[in-house]
Amino acid sequence: MSESRIHSSALRNKIMSADEAARLIHNGANVGMSGFTGSGYPKVLPSALARRIMAANAEGDRFRVGVWTGASTAPDLDGALAAVDGIEMRLPYQSDPECRKRINAGEMEYIDIHLSHVAQFVWFGFLGKLDVAVVEVAGILEDGRLVPSSSVGNNKTWLDQADKVILEVNSWQSPRLEGMHDIYYGTQLPPNRQPIPLIRPSDRIGEPYLRCDPDKIVAVVETHSPDRNSAFTPPDQDSRRIAGHIIEFLQHEVKKGRLPASLLPLQSGVGNIANAVMAGLNEGPFENLTAYTEVLQDGMLEMLKSGKLGCASATAFSLSNDALAELNADLDRYRERIILRPQEISNHPEVIRRLGVIAMNGMIEADIYGNVNSTHVMGSKIMNGIGGSGDFARNAYLSIFMTPSQAKGGAISCIVPMVSHVDHTEHDVQVLVTEQGLADLRGLSPRQRAKAVIENCAHPNFRPALRDYYNRALAQSPGKHTPHLLEEVFNWHLSALRGEPM
Ligand code: COA
Repeated sequence: MSESRIHSSALRNKIMSADEAARLIHNGANVGMSGFTGSGYPKVLPSALARRIMAANAEGDRFRVGVWTGASTAPDLDGALAAVDGIEMRLPYQSDPECRKRINAGEMEYIDIHLSHVAQFVWFGFLGKLDVAVVEVAGILEDGRLVPSSSVGNNKTWLDQADKVILEVNSWQSPRLEGMHDIYYGTQLPPNRQPIPLIRPSDRIGEPYLRCDPDKIVAVVETHSPDRNSAFTPPDQDSRRIAGHIIEFLQHEVKKGRLPASLLPLQSGVGNIANAVMAGLNEGPFENLTAYTEVLQDGMLEMLKSGKLGCASATAFSLSNDALAELNADLDRYRERIILRPQEISNHPEVIRRLGVIAMNGMIEADIYGNVNSTHVMGSKIMNGIGGSGDFARNAYLSIFMTPSQAKGGAISCIVPMVSHVDHTEHDVQVLVTEQGLADLRGLSPRQRAKAVIENCAHPNFRPALRDYYNRALAQSPGKHTPHLLEEVFNWHLSALRGEPM
């Protein structure tokens, strides 16, 4: 741990322990925490707050806070606070097992918001008052400006909107991150909004530092703790096949003149499959690619290293330890080609539409008409959240969703008659991909789509049941535009729940 990261003497005077800082957060406070996909989250304050909550609980006083973040964090934030039942309301995306358990048990309120919406909802006053910001930074300059760490997320908004600010200065984060970020301060509220002057993924339109009124900073806590840094599983056969179908499709689009040879900026979602698609593209035929995405995972770093990818714009890293070592070993070079922005810009509909992003996101299930469920298992249990998938899917040049065709060892078909929960409607989904194949839904009516999805994407074990459903729906459904037999839709999901054959 080193004091040299805090160059402002006024703020050095505010250094205290995490336990002392946690006492500055009151029961019922809404707390805006930094953190996005396991990077840049406060490492010690949340556990200190959890200890405080536990002590209050032991005295019979219920103590809970609202936790607002960029996206998912880590066990030492979401996990620690959920374990002591300290979260009243959580938003937006999360992926913590303890949070998930409490949300699904009805013990924790959760609002799943498009990631681009969070900042503006706070500015609009839609979510109530933000009392405290707890933000990890990589350093503090003499004039009080803050060097962001490995994610930007909603930090700009938290620092601006909160009454009180607690900073965690994490000396584990490389000091050479300085200069990588692009914090845009030009966003206005309607009716005074101006166009965002970002024309290419590599454009820098803001400044490398976060601003914060020093009078609001009530505590500075020093830490030296790593990000979550989970490893990705090596691409399996299914993900390699999914990657192969996508690459073939993109090649076809280039041939048809609908995409340039270097494609359009790529967005790649979270998780192993998304990572595997990047690995596929790294070995694929395309050169001089760019990325305008939300999260930079190992696969994209590999592509930057190989030179396939010229530059990547994101709001956060989500790297394994090995990939992090690679980044840090060559950070001065990567800094020229990676830009981390606030999530209101990385996921901004205006920019995504202007750039013509190719969006590739994972899903839980899709139905035969092209509606996609990204968030709920069996219609009622949240998995993670919509994240940025809606921001990208709705506004992309091409919106692709992917999944293995079956889940739970082949017991469940990920292609279903009607999704049990809908996140992305048929209007926003252009391409579905499983290891079986790809369904290009552009320009197809619902009945045409049903055939393409069943024949190209469903697993052969489930195709007969899906064909049978579709044929009977076509014959018996009162409407022939999107034929459905609603009773059977419920039965389909109930059979899956009971592990019965479809
Ligand atoms: N029915 C029941 N369970 C299913 C299922 C289905 N149709 N499809 C997947 N699952 C389960 C898997 O079995 C697995 O459960 P487990 O953890 O108990 O083993 C879990 O869901 C995750 O599935 P996996 O195949 O490992 O997928 P993934 O890591 O690619 O994640 C999503 C898939 C949909 C959960 C993930 O992409 C997500 O959270 N997406 C929403 C947010 C998003 O798209 N963000 C990116 C925007 S930039």
